[in-house]
Amino acid sequence: MKAITVEPKKPGTARLMEMPEPDSGDGSILVEAIAVGVCGTDVEIVEGKYGWAPPGLEHLILGHESLGRVIDPGNSKRFQKGDLVVGIVRRPDPIPCPNCAVGEWDMCRNGLYTERGIKEIHGFMSERWRIEPEYAIKIDPSLGILGVLLEPTTVVTKALEQIGMIGRRSFYEPRTVLVTGAGPIGLLAALSLKVFGIEDIHVVDRMESGLKPDLVRELGATYHSCNVADLSFEPDAIIECTGVGQVIAQSIQKISPNGIVCLTGVGHGGVMNQSSIADIAAAAVLRNNVIVGSVNANKRQWYRAGLTLARADKSWLAKLITRREKPEYFMNALARTPDDIKVIIQFSDI
Ligand code: BGC
Repeated sequence: MKAITVEPKKPGTARLMEMPEPDSGDGSILVEAIAVGVCGTDVEIVEGKYGWAPPGLEHLILGHESLGRVIDPGNSKRFQKGDLVVGIVRRPDPIPCPNCAVGEWDMCRNGLYTERGIKEIHGFMSERWRIEPEYAIKIDPSLGILGVLLEPTTVVTKALEQIGMIGRRSFYEPRTVLVTGAGPIGLLAALSLKVFGIEDIHVVDRMESGLKPDLVRELGATYHSCNVADLSFEPDAIIECTGVGQVIAQSIQKISPNGIVCLTGVGHGGVMNQSSIADIAAAAVLRNNVIVGSVNANKRQWYRAGLTLARADKSWLAKLITRREKPEYFMNALARTPDDIKVIIQFSDI
């Protein structure tokens, strides 16, 4: 079968190649790939900056934002031929650490977790893939191709859950919430906030016009094209989705007393000196702020993310998918333009 692979840590090695059919050890459910979303992590892996091949192998099959159709449910009673499914990305570490032992693999403590398409297990960018029933999520059929948005929605679902849990340390009813970045994660965060009933949602991004501001406004949220520092209000919570140093620093300075900044973007670089660390810490102390990082998602969050997508306006969701590429043109999918929101690689028709 054809698969998009990379030799991790070696830039320029990504290619579409013949690979053996998925191993039955990967799971009892056999799935035909429909589509796989592309995100910044895939770009990093292709650039040789991240990613690990399965032990003993040179190639890693890329892709962690899956959508497929069950070809053979194996002996699972919960799945039937034709069901639309998405595969959970992370697997618990083998020891397991206390968090992995209780199904919170997203909070793995020893770093020995594995991730499909990222860390030591093949991903979903292949014509067929296998999955264990307990790591397969059935998609509401009304979502169709939009099911490919489930994985990024799980990431923001976890972030919102973290804010809610941390907020319970005091009286906390977040009314004004800011999302930084109007990419797929930022827009799905704004959508999730809306579905969760947050009244006053703001999104800030560099783009001055076009689809991103339009999509924010269609949600009933407020769009800003300015620096976070220039906003005229102090948000109760900020979901940081850019990973850009300046945006992170300004977010930490802008958050309200008792407010929570949840970091979801993975960036690099930026300059920080000792005094600015102390200044940031002092401000956080004096205003009871929490700055929390959030990655991946557990099964409860996968389930909740599925509910969010099922409740969302499908025509709005559909506009997030701005480009579909065929597997042979996967390099085009990895090269993003400013107007792209979510680019998917489509393996078969829905
Ligand atoms: C994925 C997560 C993963 C993280 C770190 C993200 O792009 O969405 O599932 O845990 O990368 O590897």
